[in-house]
Amino acid sequence: MITNTELEFKGDLYPSKIVLMEQDVDSVFFHADNSVILKLTVLRDSMIRFRYTVKGYFSNDFSYAIDKSHSHGYNFLEVTEENDYYQVKTSKVKCRIQKIDMRVSIFDLNDKVILEDELGFHWEECYEHGGNIVKMSKTSKDGECFYGLGDKATQLNLKGKRVENFATDQYAFSKDQEPLYKVVPFYIGLQKKQSYGIFFDNTFRTYFDFCQERRNVTSFWAEGGEMNYYFIYGPQMQDVVTTYTDLTGKPELPPLWALGYHQCKWSYFPESNVKEITAKFRDLKIPCDAIYLDIDYMEGFRCFTWNKEYFPDPKRMVAELAADGFKTIVIIDPGIKIDKEYSVYKEALEKDYFCKRADGPYMKGKVWPGECNFPDYTNPEVREWWAGLFKELVSEIGVKGVWNDMNEPAVMEVPNKTFPMDVRHDYDGNPCSHRKAHNIYGMQMARATYHGVKRFAYPKRPFVITRSAYAGAQRYTSSWTGDNVASWEHLWIANIQVQRMCISGMGFTGSDIGGFAEQPSGELYARWIQLGVFHPFCRTHSSGDHGNQEPWAFDEEVIDITRKFVNLRYQLLPYLYTMFWQYIEEGIPMLKPLVYFDQEDIQTHYRNDEFIFGNQILVCPILEPNSLGRRMYMPRGQWYNYWTSELITGGKELWVDTKFDQIPMFIKAGAIIPKYPVQQYVGELEFDELELDVYYKESKEKSVVYEDAQDGYDYKKGRFSLLSFTTIGKGNEFYIQLYKEGKYDTNYTKFKINLIGLPFKVKEIRIDNEKITYDKRIFDSKNYLIIDKEFTELNIVGI
Ligand code: GLC
Repeated sequence: MITNTELEFKGDLYPSKIVLMEQDVDSVFFHADNSVILKLTVLRDSMIRFRYTVKGYFSNDFSYAIDKSHSHGYNFLEVTEENDYYQVKTSKVKCRIQKIDMRVSIFDLNDKVILEDELGFHWEECYEHGGNIVKMSKTSKDGECFYGLGDKATQLNLKGKRVENFATDQYAFSKDQEPLYKVVPFYIGLQKKQSYGIFFDNTFRTYFDFCQERRNVTSFWAEGGEMNYYFIYGPQMQDVVTTYTDLTGKPELPPLWALGYHQCKWSYFPESNVKEITAKFRDLKIPCDAIYLDIDYMEGFRCFTWNKEYFPDPKRMVAELAADGFKTIVIIDPGIKIDKEYSVYKEALEKDYFCKRADGPYMKGKVWPGECNFPDYTNPEVREWWAGLFKELVSEIGVKGVWNDMNEPAVMEVPNKTFPMDVRHDYDGNPCSHRKAHNIYGMQMARATYHGVKRFAYPKRPFVITRSAYAGAQRYTSSWTGDNVASWEHLWIANIQVQRMCISGMGFTGSDIGGFAEQPSGELYARWIQLGVFHPFCRTHSSGDHGNQEPWAFDEEVIDITRKFVNLRYQLLPYLYTMFWQYIEEGIPMLKPLVYFDQEDIQTHYRNDEFIFGNQILVCPILEPNSLGRRMYMPRGQWYNYWTSELITGGKELWVDTKFDQIPMFIKAGAIIPKYPVQQYVGELEFDELELDVYYKESKEKSVVYEDAQDGYDYKKGRFSLLSFTTIGKGNEFYIQLYKEGKYDTNYTKFKINLIGLPFKVKEIRIDNEKITYDKRIFDSKNYLIIDKEFTELNIVGI
């Protein structure tokens, strides 16, 4: 065994030997004789928190990330002492803490090592700022893989990479560029087909090194604060991600329209331009639910004001747009223009709500309006005030959503692009410098915005989107990946970023479709839309300083492709909404990278491009120009080609032919995919049938469809409809069983069943054991079977 002294780095300090162990209900304290204390808390059988101090006592325990309502409680906890170590055992794992140096090893119940300290906890004193640089290193076995960490623009598996977490306005970022806009210090390790997670809940600048510096070592460290991390045991990646998401929280359901298509540009103005854009969507019959107003709607970029020349009567305009099915979303930035005539500025000044420098002056920085001061959103009173500012926008003018930008926070014309580190923050009664508050500034802004929009949108649901975020921000807001570029490489990046965000708890995310900077070719735009409709958040946005980026900026073929894929998204709305519901109920990521889908199959460990949309649709975007298809990995199981209905057995790499108006897309055999008719916006049509694409499978498969009033909060009182389908294929019989829950009665009365892949000719159909007569011709043409939605078993018998 190597000892710490052999590996010691100059300046690093280590815990010395443990001299005392004390247990207090769910926590065990290990005291070293040099004032280091490790507090180990068992939160769940599969989740243990490790908190270290070097001072002999712990400071106030406070976190913006942790959802106070997360589930905790365990079935079993036993603490024992051996000669060389203490052992803390739960019903899932054993932790051993070495007496000599406090190093920790975690095992499963079969004594298989899951994670082991290398140097373990160590630290370096920081003379300049006080406090310590806190460090942790773990040994890593060959073949170990790493995933997670939010918006990183690099390959999905982070093995061999070092990443930095410091929220940054990274305009036109490039592949592998660090750091980016969001901070999610959570990763998943996968070793020997077993997954575990680490959430390092420290808001200072943090780093993670995944075997880049040293081949068999993974480390993470922070420029201040505590070594404070949560270990989450899988062994399935599903368990790690859902436990992490439960710990840091889930959002409420968004209004269904927010899952529609959104159109944005910097900027649509004046009013006539906005109307031209929205009218064109309706003319061309490309569905669209939301239109965005970027900074030019304001008077001199002052938040909560309107430029009356461009928008003389915002309330009327917003109402007219609403009558045509468009929800208006406006941008609100954190920088408040220094202007004695401006009411928001005056009020914040009077109430002392702006951030201050260490020596007293207000934090001053340039953003769009010129010199600005910045509210301290880490002060609960400031958040409350900020929330109140949305009254006019939301209650009176009728704005349906708010877009928070520049909240890393971004400052222009300064080398570090943000606040100086001496700026002071309240941090909810734990005063600190910007070093500690920087990474959560954007999240707290979005949180305050969310509470405001929610208050005034009531009884409807709010919609908020943010650029910067810290772990847990998903409780309040959706997000986008920031200022990307119209390039093929960025299409690749967008695909990975959104998958990564999904397994990092923050799934309601999308990229600027087509790219923000520079002009996409029609082909690139079409390929991006074909991917973007499968992202939880789906919006075209562009910087507007080049050509246009509405679908009609491109040729007819691209317009048709855009319509075809946006139509598909609108058809799949009940499927997408069900995915969202599974995310808010159980923390299940809406997009699943292949490794999440099947971690036992090592072929999936380094895949980047293919992902599962929801639970049953496999998507693989086309990421190169002039493609007539591509090679892809088909995960294990049986899959139907969506376009041709051909049945393919997975577990292999293959070439898939596609046309320009297709991307490789496959449906899991046995799945039932619900579809609405194409609508130009959510709620446009009333319809009497829910279409169900039913894919035959020999053996059993389950599918669910969640629906509710599509807005409002009645769903929380049980007014939802949950359809649980089981399909069973057995020789020449096929069964569809249905079990219903919930108190919401959907408007439609029938199912329009589309049977795909039936291996036999239909002889007889029984509904709840009664033979029905039907027109045989339907199975010769389209295979549609229209039946009443009240049934429990449908039996299709073949010849
Ligand atoms: C930032 C945002 C971008 C927005 C622009 C103007 O660059 O990331 O989305 O359009 O500011 O507000």
